[in-house]
Amino acid sequence: MKILRLDELIARGQVAGKRVFIRADLNVPQDDAGHITEDTRIRASVPCIRMALDAGAAVMVTSHLGRPTEGEFKPEDSLAPVAKRLGELLGRDVPLRADWVDGVDVQPGEVVLLENCRLNKGEKKNNEALAKKMAALCDIFVHDAFGTAHRAEASTYGIAQFAPVACAGPLLAAEIDAITKALANPKRPLVAIVAGSKVSTKLTILQSLASKVDGLIVGGGIANTFLLAEGRPIGKSLAEADLVNDAKTVIATMKARGAEVPIPVDVVTAKTFAADAPATIKAAADVADDDLILDIGPKTAALLADKLKAAGTIVWNGPVGVFEFDAFAQGTETIARAIAASDAFSIAGGGDTLAAIAKYGIDKDVGYISTGGGAFLEVLEGKTLPAFEILAKRAQG
Ligand code: 3PG
Repeated sequence: MKILRLDELIARGQVAGKRVFIRADLNVPQDDAGHITEDTRIRASVPCIRMALDAGAAVMVTSHLGRPTEGEFKPEDSLAPVAKRLGELLGRDVPLRADWVDGVDVQPGEVVLLENCRLNKGEKKNNEALAKKMAALCDIFVHDAFGTAHRAEASTYGIAQFAPVACAGPLLAAEIDAITKALANPKRPLVAIVAGSKVSTKLTILQSLASKVDGLIVGGGIANTFLLAEGRPIGKSLAEADLVNDAKTVIATMKARGAEVPIPVDVVTAKTFAADAPATIKAAADVADDDLILDIGPKTAALLADKLKAAGTIVWNGPVGVFEFDAFAQGTETIARAIAASDAFSIAGGGDTLAAIAKYGIDKDVGYISTGGGAFLEVLEGKTLPAFEILAKRAQG
């Protein structure tokens, strides 16, 4: 997919003195007092802003924060804490501008942060008049918000339609490059790990990957539904009995291609869902009626680790057990360390997955860590995200 990139415009000398509008995803978690608890997305947005500033642009940056009611400003919806953190990272003051849709005063070499774009009426529904007003603020629109690339809103899609020039920033470009490397043109074997509590939330991902990957490792509640599909006992574990046939179809699709869905041979169980519940390792065939499966067992983890070490490409979404509880974290830790030790190109995404990567300190050993939550999942579903669709269209002229 050919899309115009900000660095190409800079290389052609087309950015100096221009008004550049960057849509970033600065939607970061905050505690009740409004302190940012995790700033990865802000740090990931800095290179684009620096690039535009260094090129001599007048830079406007905006983002959404949460899901506020349009037209109703509440202090907790403000990007003020983000402006402060961004200022620290850029080493300069980043003024925050409210009511910016009708005009923004910013000079070349300056950067301003435009208040939460989801406060503007018409943002969510991609109102054309709003999008045209935003487009009129700039000479160049830069989409660098991968985390929001699956949304077609006024500041992500409409503005890209109407701005004089629309291009991808370095974060969006890096995400698409990593995704292309992992899914469109992977070094084989390609192994995906899709784990999490429910098949229903990831069924389309499982179905889409079943026709692409050489190995599909399932974990968490998803694995329980697959165990059911294989006729294994799961006791009172979380599972979706109504999706057993879908799980069977995924297994059959994979088998027909000579690929496999490795089903756990052993598991870690408990009688209650609690951090201090005694953990028991048992063969998958021996799960009792009152057991809860809370992790894969050590034999399964070792088998999966071997597959990951031999992979050419790994896509990771979801922990394979309740890794927040130490007694049930072994499976996820083994998987994480196998990915870290593998020569494969690996890409990981999703909130829980990022938490596991942080817990085991393997961030430097993962090929690419996506900043996308829902956006990353939609990519795995095989969808073309609106951000890429509109930027590709604009690149065609
Ligand atoms: C996210 O947190 O996944 C993105 O910022 C998108 O947020 P949204 O789901 O509110 O559109």
